[in-house]
Amino acid sequence: MNVLFVSAEMSPLAKVGGLGDVAGSLPIALRARGLDVRIAMPFYATVDRAKAAARRIGEVEVPWPGGHQRAGVWLADVRGVPVYLVEHEGMFGREKVYGFDDDPARFLFFCDALLAASGLIDFTPGVIHAQDWHAALLLTRLDAEASHPWAGAGSVYTIHNLALQGNFDRGFAAHFGIGHAQLAPPDALPHEMMMSAMAQGIAHADRVNTVSDTYAREILTHEYGAGLDPLLRARQAIVSGIVNGIDYEEFDPQTDRDLTAHYTVDTLDARAENKRALQRQAGLPEDAGALLFGVVTRLFAQKGIDLLPPALEPVLAHGNAQLVVLGTGDEAVHEMLNALEARHAQKVKVWLDFNPPLGQKIYGGADCFLMPSRYEPCGLGQLISLRYGAVPLVRRTGGLADTVEDVDAAVTAGTGFVFGAADAHELQQACERALAAFARPGAWRAIQQRGMRQDWSWGRAGARYAELYEAARASRAAKKGA
Ligand code: GLC
Repeated sequence: MNVLFVSAEMSPLAKVGGLGDVAGSLPIALRARGLDVRIAMPFYATVDRAKAAARRIGEVEVPWPGGHQRAGVWLADVRGVPVYLVEHEGMFGREKVYGFDDDPARFLFFCDALLAASGLIDFTPGVIHAQDWHAALLLTRLDAEASHPWAGAGSVYTIHNLALQGNFDRGFAAHFGIGHAQLAPPDALPHEMMMSAMAQGIAHADRVNTVSDTYAREILTHEYGAGLDPLLRARQAIVSGIVNGIDYEEFDPQTDRDLTAHYTVDTLDARAENKRALQRQAGLPEDAGALLFGVVTRLFAQKGIDLLPPALEPVLAHGNAQLVVLGTGDEAVHEMLNALEARHAQKVKVWLDFNPPLGQKIYGGADCFLMPSRYEPCGLGQLISLRYGAVPLVRRTGGLADTVEDVDAAVTAGTGFVFGAADAHELQQACERALAAFARPGAWRAIQQRGMRQDWSWGRAGARYAELYEAARASRAAKKGA
């Protein structure tokens, strides 16, 4: 089956968050299953041209308000996956991937250029797999263009983060020719609800999925629905969840070049050396008996990092614990963490930085990995930490709920520590449970080993995506036949 995987990010060419990791690894797993998956992405100025080793395959005229625009089309090979890159100086020749006022127009342009390039791209997709709002308007356009060579393709739309929607208004729709039929909501929902690329993807795809089963249920509720839960409920029959995997070659404690010592589930003693090295780098006492908590994340409210200082304050004051944090994000969160560090200089180190090699050292050296997210569509950090024997401590939400099994009272089962409400007190209690378990080395080792023996590679998810593609194709064929 031919699948065109459309994404705003793909590691290593462009990576802002988890979407980049998924687009950089799921297509490889699908190709290994025999699917001909190819990726389409904008050719940002930030893409490392040497890494991409792309060749220009031509140029297209893109219909656009105020006259046609010319866009270059390039083809790269990234770890065996063909990647089509759309180049346009005005739209993508900027210093970062996202964060501009005209983002909805930029990504609509990407979609339109791709449609214009169908003659250049020697590939007819049986399925179009659009990722997040940036790729969603491709499905809107195809529904309006029955004669386009790709119009018969089944479509799958994957939501990686429902809160980021690519909002627009009636003026935008009129300006860019998004017609009345495309804006018509299902059922009797208000028209306003259709005014975002996210809503368009949900409304126009043959199948909608998100990156965990729990998040797929959560987004149907007012609490997690980000204003689109009525639309999602209207389309509930085609909404499902598939938990992400991670690349088991890239993330492997046995070969990871950023680690001081390599280890496996059977040689966990060697891991102690990584912990020591991390403590040294952090300027903390090299105390094997202290429970070293680690955090690697973007420091935003979504991630629940504001809960950490009040929860950890008593844990650090009374228990033998340390904390290292790596990430950047909101200024207010930076300040809270800096204040915590100042109060516990001998126990806390905060690196306000984006630094993947240091991140790996935390996965490979910390005892316990914290993810107190308010919401988490899937989450990749807990999957990496399970693989690396850093016991995850997470909030029961989204993909965290689906991938971490709570340690029981006797500490004989479970792969991590799970707490319920997004409040500092519950987080504190979970940290104290972790401290108590850590005081029993044999029981702690068993928790690490149960986590490390699980398989969160892309195998299972790949099989489920292949099924979803078949379903999307069949439903599109049925619609065309009707
Ligand atoms: C987004 C979500 C994260 C998910 C990732 C990849 O970044 O916030 O939970 O793991 O997308 O699907």
